[in-house]
This record gives sequence, C-alpha cells and structure tokens, in this order.
Amino acid sequence: MARHLITSALPYINGIKHLGNMVGSMLPADVYSRYLRQRGHEVLYICATDEHGTPAELAAKEQGVPVDEFCASAHDAQKAVYDGFALAFDYFGRSSSPQNTEITQHFARRLNENGFIEERAIRQVYSPADGRFLPDRYVEGTCPHCGYDKARGDQCENCTRVLDPTDLIEPRSAISGSTDLEVRETKHLFLLQSKLQHEVEEWVARHEEEWPQLAASIARKWLNEGLHDRAITRDLDWGVPVPADTWPDLAAEGKVFYVWFDAPIEYIGATKEWADQDPENRDWKSWWYDADATVRYTEFMAKDNVPFHTVMFPATELGVREPWKKVDYVKAFNWLTYYGGKFSTSQKRGVFTDQALDILPADYWRYFLIANAPESDDSSFTWEHFTATVNKDLADTLGNFVNRVLSFSKKRFGEAVPAGGEPGEAETRLGTEIATLLAEYEAQMEALQFRKAAAALRALWSAGNSYLEEKAPWLEIKTDKDGAALTLRTAMNLIHLYAVVSEPFIPGTAAAMRQAFSLEEDTATWITPDEARALTTVAAGTPFAVPPVLFAKLTDDDLDAYKERFGGEPQPA
Ligand code: 2FM
Ligand code: ZN
Repeated sequence: MARHLITSALPYINGIKHLGNMVGSMLPADVYSRYLRQRGHEVLYICATDEHGTPAELAAKEQGVPVDEFCASAHDAQKAVYDGFALAFDYFGRSSSPQNTEITQHFARRLNENGFIEERAIRQVYSPADGRFLPDRYVEGTCPHCGYDKARGDQCENCTRVLDPTDLIEPRSAISGSTDLEVRETKHLFLLQSKLQHEVEEWVARHEEEWPQLAASIARKWLNEGLHDRAITRDLDWGVPVPADTWPDLAAEGKVFYVWFDAPIEYIGATKEWADQDPENRDWKSWWYDADATVRYTEFMAKDNVPFHTVMFPATELGVREPWKKVDYVKAFNWLTYYGGKFSTSQKRGVFTDQALDILPADYWRYFLIANAPESDDSSFTWEHFTATVNKDLADTLGNFVNRVLSFSKKRFGEAVPAGGEPGEAETRLGTEIATLLAEYEAQMEALQFRKAAAALRALWSAGNSYLEEKAPWLEIKTDKDGAALTLRTAMNLIHLYAVVSEPFIPGTAAAMRQAFSLEEDTATWITPDEARALTTVAAGTPFAVPPVLFAKLTDDDLDAYKERFGGEPQPA
C-alpha cells in the first residue's frame, strides 16, 4: 500500500469561504483521503490558513485589531466551519507558524546559494507620513479611466482595469490618507525563474500526461508565455522576515517574503507543525524529503491556483537543489457559479460555508457539491437543483430505503435481522449488479472522477430500491413469510454495504447507518466483490435499531425561504 500525501489549496485568512471554494479544494481532498484510508493506504491530509500579505493587514486594520490577533481568531473561525463539514485533516496549520518561517527562510537561502536569487533596485511609492513604502494596493486615488475616487493602486474596483499606482489621479496613502507621496528607489529580492524555465519544462513534460487536461493545459500556457523573474519580497510588517544572516540590509529595512512565496511552502511547514505537536509524528520529513519512491503526492485546487502549483512552486523546489517532494497529480477544478454568476464575497452573493451549516447538516452539502463538482466545466448552484437533488437522491433513494426496510422489518419480525428463506434468482442478480457497480465506483474514485463516482454511488442506492420494489416484501409477507424475511435481510445487508461505501461522501449518515446494527466485530473498512455478491455480512439474529430519518425532505416553502434569503436569480454575466 502506498503512502498518500494530500493537500488542498490553503484558504486565505480573510473571511469565511463560500461553497465554491469548498468544492474546488478541501471537500474533494477530504473525500479522496477518506476513500484511500478506507482502502488501507497510509494517508496524510494537510491544509492550513494562508495568512500573510496585504489583504490580511487591511482586514485587521478594518477591525481595529493587531494582525496577528486577527489571524488567530480568523483561523479558529475557519477551522470551526471545516470541522462542521467533517473535513478530516490530519492537520490544519497556519502559514504564520514558526515552522513555516524556518523552512521558507531555508528555501530562500538555498535558492540564493544556487544563484537563483538576485537583489534588484525598483522604484516604489514611499509615504514619509507613514514612514514606509506602500504596496500597490495601499495607494488610493481617482481612476484615470472611470473617475472612481476610491481606486486602488493595483486595480480599479469600479471598472476592473489593472492599474499602476502612478496612474492614479491625486494619489493618497490608504493608511494615513497622506497625499505627500514620493517615488523612491528600494531593493527587493528577485527569484530568477527564467533560469529555471528549462528544468520546469522538463519536469512538467514528465508529468502532464497523467494530469487532468485542465491542469496540463494551464501549465503549458504559462510555460509557453515564459517564466519571468519576479520579486519575492514586500514592504509589509506581516510576513516571513527576510533572514538577516543572508540579507542584513533588506532585513534591517523590515522586508518580508511575498505571500505567494511562503504559502506553498506551508504545505511542508504545516506537516512539521503536525509533527511538533505530537511526538508520534516525528518522521514528518519522510513525507517530503527523498520521498519519490515511497510517497504519492496529490494536490487539490481551483483553476486559478494551477499556475502557482504546476510551474512556480515546482520552480522554487527545483532551484533549492534538495530532494523535496514535488506534486505527482494535480486535481484542478473549474468554478462553481451561483445561478450562472460569480459567487462574490464583497457583494455578498452566494452561500457561505457557515451559512450552509446553519441551514442543513454537512452531509446534504457534501453530497450535492461532490455530485455536481465543476470537473470538466463550470457548474451552477441553484436552490432548485439543490433541493431537488436532496429530495431525490438523499431523502428518497437512500434515506427512505433505509427507514422503510428497518421500520417494516421491526414491525413484522421485531428488532433483530429476520431469519428464513434461501437466496434465489433475484438475489443472484442483485449481487452481480452490486458487485459491478461497486467496481465502477472504485474505478472512478481511483481516477479522481468525483461526479462519476457519485453517479456510481447513486446507482448502488437505486439498485436497492429496484430490488425492494421487485420483491415487495409488504405483499410477500402475506403469502411467504420466509421469502419476506430473506428480502428484508438482503436489504439490510445493502444498508450495511451503503454505510461502508458511502462514508467518504456522507460520513455522518454513514456512521448512523452502520450503528443501526449491533454487529459485534464490525471492523469492515471496505467490501470485497465476494461480499458484494453474497450480501450476507449482517447475519440473521443481529439486533438493530431504526435510526431517525436520515435526510429531511425539503419543501417548496424551504425553497422559497432559501431564495428569499440568498437571492436566487440569475446574475447578468
Ligand atoms: O488562492 C488562494 O486563496 C491562496 N490562498 C491559495 C494558496 S495555496 C498554497 F499555495 F498555499
Ligand atoms: Zn476605474
């Protein structure tokens, strides 16, 4: 069994994420990790908050709290939501950790020793009143294109044009409001990515065939445009400091690394955080260092992150000239839209992950999102589609099956799995079908095709319904009590099988289904083809309890209320 290292793109610290973020990174990573663990693989699933940079500084300033305090509480708030979604990280770290500082500084020193870092002077806006250089977005003024008077030095929010701070009319400091700004020369560290272009190309060429088309095509596009040297330091207070032993001048000026330099390194940093909080995890480095022969590394992210993970971070890792693990497989996602428009944090359009959990338990969302993951194309969230899917797949096909079988059996045979009857032709057919569908489900999960895996899972649930309709134990019992017992016992074995194989998608419900049976040694982590064909794991006489309704049916009133609260109208493109 291989060791699987899994990471999902690090959610940025400022604010709770929406459902689109969830489905494009953390949720599929969790589903895949759970599946691999069930199949007996050793898995390490790592994520963290991405905490440095200007947006964090600005958000803290807006709340009037120090940035470190802001990040600490924003981290806890995000973590609470992810716990609510049952994301089973092995560790959820913080890019502002001492571990990340240490490894980021180490990477920078090594890149420097290997000739991939250069100090260059650039011209930048300086504010004497604030006593500091201003990052582009800390300069505000009037947009020369549309006249909007709160345009930022990197972009005008109103007309979306990309700007340079010197384009702004009547520029002022976003910190103090001072208009006494000057352009001064200052030094920054540049990562000489152009020198690494060739190596990155070779590395991508060795991997892209295996990657999904979306990831491979984005990587190619960036390589074709050419890797440019880029500044990897900033004039901010909040970030990994440039190490003074190597760059005393820049360190004295308080320069820190750019957030996109230290964020991917935090995948490694968080692994060390995981190790440092529990002596049992001491061998953290075996996941990352010299690990090509023993570890398979899969990354999950939305498409905007692909260039950083397929080209830029690999360039950094290559330039370090140490055998740090590079990604083997990049699972990239398109966008989930809200009624065809963008989820928008600033315009408060769409559904945020904390709101989602206020409305319904995690499994409703987990199933819907994965079954509609934007894999081959963008996909659209609508409340109509959501409620219809919940009602049809979760409430009717799965939930109702479980309840109907267990309640009816309890009523007619008591609270133990009924004995009697011999499997016949219908059971043989069912067993063959279940084994085939299970193999299909496994194949799609192995291929990280989540929508198709969800479809196979749904087909497994449907097969149970068809069998039940065909055998109709509520009629059968009138003429053939043993036959009805056989049907119910077989259906109960399906429930147990569903509990095992649905766990990656709907872990809470899976546990409730499994706990319905008092099976003494229920250690099954997966179902073999023979077990799927036989459907006899849960023997006659096994006590069971009828669980509460697994999924509530959503009504038209619910639908109206959701649309009223969140705005359920198509957005202009
Ligand atoms: O796009 C984002 O939201 C970034 N915070 C992702 C960082 S992923 C990794 F590189 F840290
Ligand atoms: Zn403008």
